[in-house]
Amino acid sequence: MSNEPGLRKRRKDASQQNASKEAVTAARATTRSTSLSSIIVLVLTALLFYLYQNSASLKSTFNSWAGYSDSEKYYWKGDVDLTADVPKRDAAVEAMLHAWLAYERDAMGDDEYHPISRKGSNLTNAGGIGYTVVDSIDTLLIMGLDEEYRRARDWIENKLSFDQDAKFNTFETTIRVLGGLLSAHHLSGDPMFLEKAKDLADRIIPAFNTPSGLPLSMVNLAKRQGVPDVDNKGLVSTAEVSTLQLEFRYLSLLTDNETYWEKAEHVMSVIKKAHISTGLASIFMNPEDGRFVLAAIRLGSRGDSYYEYLLKQYLQTNFTEPVYREMYDDAINGVHNHLVKKSEFDRLTYTSELIPERNRLGEVSWRLTPKQDHLVCFLGGSLMLGAVTTGAVAQPASIPPRAEELSAQGRRDWATGIELIETCMRTHDTATGLSPEIAHFRIPSDNMDATRAPHDWYIKGDRPGAPAPYDARYILRPETVESLFIAYRLTGNPRYRQYGWDIFEAIEKYCKIEGGGYASVLNVDRVPVGLEDKMETFFMSETLKYLYLLFEDANVLPLSKYVFNTEAHPFPVFHPTIRTGFS
Ligand SMILES: *[C@@H]1O[C@H](CO)[C@@H](O)[C@H](O)[C@H]1NC(C)=O
Ligand SMILES: *[C@@H]1O[C@H](CO)[C@@H](O)[C@H](O)[C@H]1NC(C)=O
Ligand SMILES: *[C@@H]1O[C@H](CO)[C@@H](O)[C@H](O)[C@H]1NC(C)=O
Repeated sequence: MSNEPGLRKRRKDASQQNASKEAVTAARATTRSTSLSSIIVLVLTALLFYLYQNSASLKSTFNSWAGYSDSEKYYWKGDVDLTADVPKRDAAVEAMLHAWLAYERDAMGDDEYHPISRKGSNLTNAGGIGYTVVDSIDTLLIMGLDEEYRRARDWIENKLSFDQDAKFNTFETTIRVLGGLLSAHHLSGDPMFLEKAKDLADRIIPAFNTPSGLPLSMVNLAKRQGVPDVDNKGLVSTAEVSTLQLEFRYLSLLTDNETYWEKAEHVMSVIKKAHISTGLASIFMNPEDGRFVLAAIRLGSRGDSYYEYLLKQYLQTNFTEPVYREMYDDAINGVHNHLVKKSEFDRLTYTSELIPERNRLGEVSWRLTPKQDHLVCFLGGSLMLGAVTTGAVAQPASIPPRAEELSAQGRRDWATGIELIETCMRTHDTATGLSPEIAHFRIPSDNMDATRAPHDWYIKGDRPGAPAPYDARYILRPETVESLFIAYRLTGNPRYRQYGWDIFEAIEKYCKIEGGGYASVLNVDRVPVGLEDKMETFFMSETLKYLYLLFEDANVLPLSKYVFNTEAHPFPVFHPTIRTGFS
């Protein structure tokens, strides 16, 4: 991460070069054109007649040529049943109890939980900030675990203090703790949560006091001071600065204090101003001048939720801020033009990363790296959600949508979303049925060995006898089940519930600790499994919540009335009265 050149030279825009070439070619052509004009009229007339006769087949040829799809296979025509699958839903509740009760028994109030040693730990020595309790409490509420909820609530009221003299990650604290408090407030109506949320937000807000207004990566909650991230030369991650907005905007609405909204929205205007013409954002920005830094472009860590929140900011305020729709469209076009690829053998759709490289003359070129983080698996569901909102010709689209209800872009995004989910499921073709942290896709230059299974992708560095590489882990991440939940809600296709159940069963089989809690698996492609003594907070806040909602009746937290923050905390969609978006 830190060996990326700290130079600020921005990407030389390849599309500009192409455009000027085209202009030259076009200028040459006009000199010969007059003598041909009568022939052209004739040809055009014939062409128009042909188009008129063959419009449907031409449209689909054009669509597939342009990468858009209206293929039948993307439009589910079976029975749609959006009612609860009670036994499977209740199995998710049992898993939540198995996780929560162990945490409560061994580590109540500590930030993190280690289920094998049955111990808790805090993020810093200064003391905990309720990382696990606050992150989990809305799941307890949604699942109707009232007694557990009451105990967690009382802990928050009586024991939780944000007056901790240490540095905390601005983004993680916002999405997990501020987000958890706000959604608990919404779901319970209890004003205590809002008081705590305001206290925390007022301690985080000083992180935004930089020359550009981009918040620093860390913040000292007791001193109310932003702290630069020295490991990354004081730079900030693009996803981290652009994934605070749902939380601070909602807090503004609840408190009638515009400051939170202004600070968070300003970040988006800085990003828009610094915009690169490809629509893609590099993963680091400079908080001094508010510009992008030459660094990798990817949909995985430090990039992912930038794309997610562009869409969700648009949805949060009920389609009233077109600026986010424009930014989202731009970004997703960039993703399709530069990052979406097909694998060599089975033509699986995946996303790659772009890594900048400098030659001896200092010129920058971009190397395509066929590496997809598990984190990217949020994108399938997100693209489907975008397709039926930004990509629909009228609102609301049917469940499932019909091809004619979507724009060409909507059909493209819908198809890519479905294909990405299929690819993410293929990364579960492992000894455990769990997917690794990072999958590499085969390309001709890596001396592809087609005999190894699964042959389209592999876990880099995984060799018999060698210690498990970082890429091989499953740390209880939620992104695939998040996409499955959205896909099910938007299609009613039972295939997505089946996929979710397969994943749930693999988690139960390999991650569950007999005495309570769930642990991370060190190598998803080895049985018997080796475990790591950690249960990440997102297991209770996201993975189990999305699994529960996948099997719950679709009337519970409907996607038309809620946006989920990137930590799966639901906030209501609202009509903004205090602000109307920037341009
Ligand atoms: C974590 O912090 C809390 C609150 O400051 C404290 O009560 C608890 O003992 C700490 N836990 C550990 C394991 O240090
Ligand atoms: C609004 O919130 C900001 C940020 O914490 C604070 O400085 C300001 O005093 C608040 N304004 C009002 C009217 O409460
Ligand atoms: C969102 O807009 C739609 C259509 O304009 C309207 O029917 C709906 O009530 C709005 N929702 C909210 C929460 O304001």
